[in-house]
Amino acid sequence: MKAALDRREATAVASDVVVTGVFERGDKETSFPHALAKDDALVKGLLKGAWDRKEIRGKRREITTVHRPDGKGRLLVVGLGPRARFSAESVRRAAAEAVKSVRGKGARTATFRLSAFAQEPVSGEAAARAIVDGVYLGSYEFLRYKSTADGNVEDVTIALGEELGRQETEIRRGLDEQITIAETVRWTRDIANLPADTASPARLAEEAKSLGKELGLKVTVFDETKLAEMGCGGILAVGSGSNSHPPRLIVLEYAGGARRGKTVAVVGKGITFDSGGISIKPAPHLADMKFDKSGAVAVLGILRAAALLRVPPRVIGVMGCAENMPSGTSYRPGDVVRTYNGKTIEILNTDAEGRVVLSDALGYAVAQYHPDEIIDLATLTGAATVALGDDTAGLVASDEKLARGLLEASAATGEPIWRMPLTDYHRELVKSDVGDVRNSIEIPLAGMLTASAFLENFVGSTAWAHLDIAGPAYTTITTRKYQPAYQNMGATGFGVRLVTRYLLDAPKA
Ligand code: BES
Ligand code: MN
Ligand code: ZN
Repeated sequence: MKAALDRREATAVASDVVVTGVFERGDKETSFPHALAKDDALVKGLLKGAWDRKEIRGKRREITTVHRPDGKGRLLVVGLGPRARFSAESVRRAAAEAVKSVRGKGARTATFRLSAFAQEPVSGEAAARAIVDGVYLGSYEFLRYKSTADGNVEDVTIALGEELGRQETEIRRGLDEQITIAETVRWTRDIANLPADTASPARLAEEAKSLGKELGLKVTVFDETKLAEMGCGGILAVGSGSNSHPPRLIVLEYAGGARRGKTVAVVGKGITFDSGGISIKPAPHLADMKFDKSGAVAVLGILRAAALLRVPPRVIGVMGCAENMPSGTSYRPGDVVRTYNGKTIEILNTDAEGRVVLSDALGYAVAQYHPDEIIDLATLTGAATVALGDDTAGLVASDEKLARGLLEASAATGEPIWRMPLTDYHRELVKSDVGDVRNSIEIPLAGMLTASAFLENFVGSTAWAHLDIAGPAYTTITTRKYQPAYQNMGATGFGVRLVTRYLLDAPKA
C-alpha cells in the first residue's frame, strides 16, 4: 500500500476509482449537493439521476458506483452519515468502506477527492489522516496462509484540488506521519495474527531483535535461565506449563528525540496462547486466545512508530511473553510465587495469568528504568468486554495528566477508551491470606478493576495507566459486522495509533 498527495482535482488523476463523499440527506432534501455536481459532468448526469431516484442517500456504509462513460474508471460515492455527527471517524470509516467495496474487483489505484471529506469540523489535514487510516487499515488482509488473494487497492492518491491547495504544507506533514503510523498498525497486525505454533515467545524476541537492528534500538532478551536468576517468578510460573515454548522477557529501548525528554515505559501482556492452564478454559472460542499476546505485540508496534517518527520522550518497551498451558509441569492453583519486586502472589486461578506475567514486567520496568510514566496494554479480563463492549478499552490511571493525555489521544485517533475507577474496595479484594496478593477472587465482581488493583502493586509510585484491551484487540466472525470497516477479521493492532499519538504529543501534555 502507498499513498501520496496530488495538487490536481481528483478527476484529473488517472485512477481506477475516484472516491467522493456525500452527507446523509434529509427526507425532504431534494437539492443536488454541490460536491456531487462537480463530478456529474464527467459522468454525463448519472449522479444527478441517481440522486433524483433516491438511490444516493448518503447513509453510512452506502456506496454508489458510477462508471465513467469515457471508460476511464469508476466514480464511487460513499455515504458520510448525518452532517450533525460528522467527524474524522466518519471519514476513517467511509474511506475503509470505499476500498473494501472494490476488493477483488480489479481496482488497483484509487483517488480521494479531499475536499469532499474535509468539511466542518474536520480540517484538511485531519481528513487526509483519516483517509490514510481508512485505506491502510480497511484494505488490510492477513494473507500469509492464503494461496489466493482477491486483490486490493494498492496505490492511493489524495487529491487536494484548488480549494485546499493553500494547506498543502500542513496536509503533507500530517499525511506522511499518518502513513508511518497506519503502516505500522498493518505490520503489528501481521505479527499479532500469527498463530501460537509460530508466534512463540522466542519468535516474538526474534521480531524485537530484527526491529532493533533495523531502527537502531537496544534490545535485550531474558530467557528462562536468566529470568530465574533475576527472580522473575511470575513469568516463569505462567510459562512453566509449556514444554515447547519457554517464556521470554523482552526489552526495547528508544533513546528519545528531545534533549531533556521524559521516560515513558510501555509494557505489554504477551501470552502467545492462553489455554487457561490447569484452570483450563472451555473449548468455545479457545482459538481466539492466540490473540492474548496483542498487548505485547502492540508494544512492538509502538516502539517501531516511536523510532520511525522520532517521538520526543525516551520510550522503553517491555514485553512479558509466555505460553499458558496445562501439563505436568504447570503452575497450579494454591502455588505461591515470588516476583521481581519481591512481592508474593497466591495463585488461585491459573487462567488469571496475564496479571502474573505483568507483575514481573512492570516491576522490572520500574526498578530498572525509573520511568516518569508507565503505560501497560493487556488483553487482561473478559470483564472489560462485559463492561465496555468489544470496541472500547478500559483505562485505569493513577495520574490525572497521563489519563488526560491518553483520553485526548483517543479522541484524536478514534481508538476508544473509557476511564474506570480504582478504589480501596478493589484493593481490599486482592489481598491474600497466604501471600501479599492473590491473582483471583471468589466473587465475580468488578473483574477489570480487581485486576487493576492487583497490577498497582507492581508499579510503585510511578504515574501509571493500564489499558485493558481484551475487547478491541481482535474481531471475530460474529463481532466483525458491528465494527468499523477499518477493523478487519483478527488482530486490530489496537493501541498503536493511540499510544503513538500520545507519545508524539507528550510535550504538550
Ligand atoms: N486472556 C484472558 C482474558 C480475555 C478473555 C481476553 C476473553 C480476551 C477475551 C485472561 O487471561 C483471563 O482468562 N482472564 C480471566 C480472569 C479470571 C480467571 C479472574 C477472565 O477474564 O475470565
Ligand atoms: Mn487467562
Ligand atoms: Zn490471558
